[in-house]
Amino acid sequence: MKQLSVGGESFAVRDEGRGPPVLLVHGFPLDLTMWDAQVEALAPSHRVIAPDLRGFGGSVVTPGKVTMSRMADDLAALLDALGVTEPITYAGFSMGGYVGWPFLRSHRRRVARLVLCDTRAVGDTSEAAKGRLAMADKVEAEGAAVAADAMLPKLLAPGRAERDPALARRVREIILATDARGIAAAQRGMAERADARADLPALGLPALVVVGEHDAISTRGEMSALAAEIPGARFVQVAGAGHTSPMEEPAAVTAALLEFLHDAR
Ligand code: MLT
Repeated sequence: MKQLSVGGESFAVRDEGRGPPVLLVHGFPLDLTMWDAQVEALAPSHRVIAPDLRGFGGSVVTPGKVTMSRMADDLAALLDALGVTEPITYAGFSMGGYVGWPFLRSHRRRVARLVLCDTRAVGDTSEAAKGRLAMADKVEAEGAAVAADAMLPKLLAPGRAERDPALARRVREIILATDARGIAAAQRGMAERADARADLPALGLPALVVVGEHDAISTRGEMSALAAEIPGARFVQVAGAGHTSPMEEPAAVTAALLEFLHDAR
């Protein structure tokens, strides 16, 4: 893990291996360590870059609101700072996928392949957006535990926490270690993210869509419909996983990634 200064602001990033670059973008309210298993598995054949988004992990915290577009521009600046000029595979998990839509709009030439993991193209309903704004205020007032309590039951597959208490503890610890101001700012940014469904038919990229069988946030029905809108997209359902499929079933997600990276060369 290293700290990079980008425009005078500090970002944490894991940058391992050599080969075609793969950018792994974490979800909410997590950090780059959610990709540990995938970084280890891909690094022998790829340059794997896993950053902490603004407000998360070891990266700069910007209170208030951080939009998905701002995070996308951060990622482009980070790639510049790392000297990555070759088109990347952009792999976004959940909020990392939300960041992928503005990244594709503003930095299209940087992307050669797209992986959408347990994520959504649809924007928030006004009710969902209101819920996010309320949670943002509560997290700022009471701390990250509010987000951990609200999110944990939705992140893992039913019964997973009982079967794998160490994983449940790890996810909770990541959330509790996150700066409450970063969580609140990302919630406000997600609440106003644009609907990206109209972009799907014209993406013009090899794409892999991965979903946990029991994902309660981006359901398999919604994700298979999303995959059907992207011409030629590959769809993989991860048996037994909930929303956090890369952490719950790392071997299956890694295998899907490696197969896609191999076939879409
Ligand atoms: C995530 O995993 O990034 C979040 O569940 C996304 C969301 O809250 O919509």
